[in-house]
Amino acid sequence: MATSERKPIIAGNWKMHCTHLEAIQMVQKVSYLLEDQDYDRNDVVVCPPFTALRSVQTVLDADRIPMALGAQDVFWESKGAFTGEISPEMLEKLNVTYVIVGHSERRQHLGETDDFVNRKAKAVLKHEMAPIVCVGETLEQREAGETHGFVGGQIRAAFSGIKRAEAERCVVAYEPIWAIGTGRHATPEDANSVIEMIRRELGSLYGDVAGQMCIQYGGSVKPGNIAELMAMPEIDGALVGGASLDPDDFARIIRYR
Ligand code: PGA
Repeated sequence: MATSERKPIIAGNWKMHCTHLEAIQMVQKVSYLLEDQDYDRNDVVVCPPFTALRSVQTVLDADRIPMALGAQDVFWESKGAFTGEISPEMLEKLNVTYVIVGHSERRQHLGETDDFVNRKAKAVLKHEMAPIVCVGETLEQREAGETHGFVGGQIRAAFSGIKRAEAERCVVAYEPIWAIGTGRHATPEDANSVIEMIRRELGSLYGDVAGQMCIQYGGSVKPGNIAELMAMPEIDGALVGGASLDPDDFARIIRYR
């Protein structure tokens, strides 16, 4: 469980699911199932697709639901001829607080490189939002004993040129690729050990600040495994995909104790 300085963040990544109408229902159902104390213990974030951000933001405001709004991606330029892209300023104006950068699905299917991830993280920070920087190894890399070297390299690349005061606001999500959407989650001990290494890596860049940074685990988080994951000292929350699409499951994950 996170230390008292680090409030856990439970974030739902809806990926390419939910029209704006479905997204409204989803957020209302989850909030109906939650109580004030659930928000006191965790920060709760929902990351709908771009097309639903405005609708979800309106519902969060109108119903005074204390969930933060997150986006699943962003482009690093402020404006210009970049057909199909969404700028940090557009997200900031929608009261977006968190932006996922470097999700493995984007790295895998859309050619997102470490350099893109770094530019995106910096652009998010410049606009007073917090990046959720995703890192994680493939099964082959894990089996070849390359996890620490690879994930450590992803961290150094993603944080290149990011200053100490900015790093404090960043969130990291350790998401082993082989655990995403497969029903096969990392053991709490394995996840904890990689996250410990990530914190050491951040410590070599930022000193004490690393101790305050929130590092989540992601990959087949479910109501049945969240408590054992959160019981680990280095795991400060979860980035939840599939299970965040079921209001009941997502509420149970948020309430994990
Ligand atoms: P999953 O996805 O919970 O469905 O495994 C996690 C993620 O991709 O963030």
